[in-house]
Amino acid sequence: MSDGRELLISGNWKMNLTHFEAIQYVQELAALLRAGPLRPGRALSIHPPFTALRSVQTALESDAVPVALGAQNCHEAEKGAYTGEVSAEMLAKLNVSYVIVGHSERRQLFGESDGTVRAKADAVLKKEMTPIICVGETLEEREAGEARTKVTGQLEAAIGKRPAAVVGRLVIAYEPIWAIGTGKTASLEDAEEMAAHIRAEAERLAGEEAASFLRVQYGGSVNIENAGDLLACKNVDGLLVGGASLKAESLYEIARAR
Ligand code: PGA
Repeated sequence: MSDGRELLISGNWKMNLTHFEAIQYVQELAALLRAGPLRPGRALSIHPPFTALRSVQTALESDAVPVALGAQNCHEAEKGAYTGEVSAEMLAKLNVSYVIVGHSERRQLFGESDGTVRAKADAVLKKEMTPIICVGETLEEREAGEARTKVTGQLEAAIGKRPAAVVGRLVIAYEPIWAIGTGKTASLEDAEEMAAHIRAEAERLAGEEAASFLRVQYGGSVNIENAGDLLACKNVDGLLVGGASLKAESLYEIARAR
């Protein structure tokens, strides 16, 4: 555990699992957690596609499974003529606790700008859910020595000019784009260095207390082999897991690592 902050391990299913498969997943995860609960100071969230949220909510709540419900995205507007979109309020009514915003796939494939990401975080906060705000650099940016500058810019846009109390309850996911779905993980040194940088930037933008509460996840090819070492990094307060979260047992083992 990093300085007393709760570790949050989040499974981002992306566009995978039907609602039938999702229910089976929750049953498996529930059985594993019953047989061997997570140690204190660790929490789990799962982020199914929108079509499975209601089924997963029901499955989690009916058995009081100690797993938070998360979503992968939402629209920034409160409601209206946005065909195909889902609002923060719709998610809040399903007892969603965490909403991923600004995932690099959203930024790259769906053109989400820093401004959109901030507006989405605003919408999530307004409904009293917690945004998991994703930041991270491309391989070219890292090789050009621009990784920190890129992340700093994304952080300024997403968390600048916010009250300290709000910044203190945010989750920032550092996901180097070149590590997502590639099997390449950032080195422990690079993951810790960027997590520390994110905390330092939060301190500059919102003060020391907010920065000490803010949680920083690492994401990008997390698996059972590397999870324990990543979780042991001082400034890493959790993991955002894609591919390896698609099997309940695998996400469970990652959450129990070390
Ligand atoms: P990955 O995805 O674990 O499959 O690399 C992580 C993410 O995109 O959140």
